[in-house]
Amino acid sequence: MMFKIAPSILSADFTKLAEEIKRIEVDGVGYLHIDIMDGRFVPNITIGAPVVKYIRKATSLPIDVHLMIEEPEKHVDAFIEAGSDILTFHVEATRHPERLLRYIRQKGVKAGISLNPATSLDSLTYLYGAVDLVLVLTVNPGFGGQKLIPEVLQKVRALKDIKSKGGHDFIIQVDGGVTADNIDQYVGSGGELIVAGNAVFGSKNPAEAVSLLMKKGKKQ
Ligand code: DX5
Ligand code: ZN
Repeated sequence: MMFKIAPSILSADFTKLAEEIKRIEVDGVGYLHIDIMDGRFVPNITIGAPVVKYIRKATSLPIDVHLMIEEPEKHVDAFIEAGSDILTFHVEATRHPERLLRYIRQKGVKAGISLNPATSLDSLTYLYGAVDLVLVLTVNPGFGGQKLIPEVLQKVRALKDIKSKGGHDFIIQVDGGVTADNIDQYVGSGGELIVAGNAVFGSKNPAEAVSLLMKKGKKQ
């Protein structure tokens, strides 16, 4: 099973982001994951598009922006202009997800859709043709360092099945609660782009943390 790590800067030291990002520009990293929270869709506030714009200048890594915000349609332009390579919003957060996915793609950015732990894959049935990435939240979003909700891995397995049976080529991303001890379960269930915040930036040596995750993930 091929997979890559997307370190989430949510657990990094925001006063020295450029240095923190340099520490994870290593083999195994596919994207830099940036969590955008608005204090409405989730009970926390993080950063906005101006910061993403500076992060874009600070790294050559592709940037994967995870919008945990209400009414994402009002804000996607700012994040596209800031240099997102993948732009992901929540299916629960907008009335017209299909329209928004097409809009993002039409701007030349990969379009991702995300599901909270309690949201069924049924919400995506008519959207698969319009998505480049599906992000399955394996914790309730809002904070780093939470524990995996193990039941959600069934959803990842079901998504993998839908992908192969339907001949789709979207990326299966999993996000929340990943550690070196459980990454094998995420990869074994079908996760292809594995977000890891605390497991990477909570470590004294984030580069080593990434290689440990890669090693352990390959053992499933
Ligand atoms: C959850 C965020 C995650 C978070 C993951 O609200 O979407 O991207 O940073 O953090 P860990 O890996 O610490 O669970
Ligand atoms: Zn995230």
